[in-house]
Amino acid sequence: MKVTVVGAGAVGASCAEYIAIKNFASEVVLVDIKEGYAEGKAMDLMQTASLNGFDTKIVGSTNDYTKTAGSDVAVITSGIPRKPGMTREELIGINAGIVKTVSSSILEHSPNAIIIVVSNPMDTMTYLVHKSTNLPKNRIIGMGGALDSARFKYRISEALGCPASDVNGMVIGGHSDKGMVPLIGKAVRNSVPVSEFLTEERMEQIVQDTKVGGATLTGLLGTSAWYAPGAAVSELVRAIAEDSQKMFPCSALLEGEYGLNDLSIGVPCVLGKNGIERIVEIELSDAEKAKLTESAEGVKKTNGLLEVNA
Ligand code: LAC
Repeated sequence: MKVTVVGAGAVGASCAEYIAIKNFASEVVLVDIKEGYAEGKAMDLMQTASLNGFDTKIVGSTNDYTKTAGSDVAVITSGIPRKPGMTREELIGINAGIVKTVSSSILEHSPNAIIIVVSNPMDTMTYLVHKSTNLPKNRIIGMGGALDSARFKYRISEALGCPASDVNGMVIGGHSDKGMVPLIGKAVRNSVPVSEFLTEERMEQIVQDTKVGGATLTGLLGTSAWYAPGAAVSELVRAIAEDSQKMFPCSALLEGEYGLNDLSIGVPCVLGKNGIERIVEIELSDAEKAKLTESAEGVKKTNGLLEVNA
């Protein structure tokens, strides 16, 4: 498994680090436009290999995609991150151009790569990669739901006073403060619905805290978060590398699933060696369905800006 990570900023470097530490890939190539930056991050990370016990080779490249040739998976993290007070949607103008150029450079050297999109606004950037590359839909995966679900599980575990590993739950819908749909009614501690332990008010608080999970961190850090985004990406790449058939909410191109068409949005997906092996249509309550539909309207509105900027 050879993985390219484009963008050696905090998120990209964190992706490379977690992929390396989990030791399932033979090589990670970090690419950045800033002269020497990816090489520096790669060297720093390689100097952790003997300390952290991994064999993955990490290579840096200043915008030279020949080094990425033959990648099985490519992760796009490039673009500008949001600053405090900004929404992910406000990044569209600059990031659309970057994501389009990067995906074509990746495919020039790795025509069979599965692409994971992290750049924001993520659902719209994922849709843009579909539109600009015409790749089969299984090969383009938007990373948002895996991250939002991890934040959801963190909030639930905090409320329950238990380890996050005791909790399961999913966030579907758009990767935006308004668009996320944390499925609190389906969240469990072990196999027991969390509603058995928490009041309605506490559950609503968890939902709200989850939806602004990224914004809360941006406020604290002054820029977008990186550890959980990097870890979430590494789990998606691992599922592909190991052909694990595990289910994650990912932004996938919908063609009628959930009654939605012609957009990429977070829905449960089974991941394996072909990328998205299938989209899983779970039974949603009427309230959940309404929230997903509203979220889709928001994503479509942002997709509409794409045409203006194209
Ligand atoms: C976040 C960015 C990666 O949610 O969208 O932290």
